[in-house]
Amino acid sequence: MPEKALFLETYLREIGVHTPVSLLSFGPEKTSEYVQPDAQQNDAAPDVEIDSANFKTLDALCEDASSCRLCALADTRTQVVFGAGNPHADLLFVGEAPGQDEDLQGEPFVGRSGQLLDRMLHAIGMDRDNVYMMNSIKCRPPNNRDPRPDEVQACKLWFEQQLDIIQPKMICLLGRVAAQTVLKTDDTLGALRGSWHEFQGIPVWVTYHPAYLLRSPRQKQKSWQDMMQLKLRFQALKISE
Ligand code: URA
Repeated sequence: MPEKALFLETYLREIGVHTPVSLLSFGPEKTSEYVQPDAQQNDAAPDVEIDSANFKTLDALCEDASSCRLCALADTRTQVVFGAGNPHADLLFVGEAPGQDEDLQGEPFVGRSGQLLDRMLHAIGMDRDNVYMMNSIKCRPPNNRDPRPDEVQACKLWFEQQLDIIQPKMICLLGRVAAQTVLKTDDTLGALRGSWHEFQGIPVWVTYHPAYLLRSPRQKQKSWQDMMQLKLRFQALKISE
């Protein structure tokens, strides 16, 4: 992402203004190789869309994100994996990054770990239709490596707008990478599990990533306990509404 665009976006967000992505299309001398080719050729004024992200629908944001070239993952992905589920969900699950299946199908958690996540949801009386699922970054890192800080930073533009639109009442972070990324910490998963955290005033719970549980099935017992805690607090929150 061009430094100026990043600065502008961060600054506007700090002061409570949500920037339509089109405002971040800079003229040719200010672009980097990851800005859309159209924007690079356009030396007239940027194509300013008078449209507040506050009023944007998730579908419109997804459409904008589908052509994102804010980081180098745009060169290797098949498609952007924006998110899926109920756009009005009170409970949001955040994973790490799309894997190969998700990259091919364009939906989060459709591979083996997604099937386990479905079973975890069923265990607490939920399914994909009453939660929303997304990842801390929207494009698959090559060979499923961990997302890099610059990729996470670039993808924040989408992540935060998604959150603004969905306005979940509770967030569950799946695995170390999602937890460290969203909570901006280097703490281990072990240290983060078992207590409530907060992100932008929203209660946050951390548990194991289903892919880890597939590799370490002995931890499923602890994961079950985590899911029960999540369910209890979620029910309490709904009762108090
Ligand atoms: N792992 C994740 O973290 N997210 C997905 O969408 C799939 C696998």
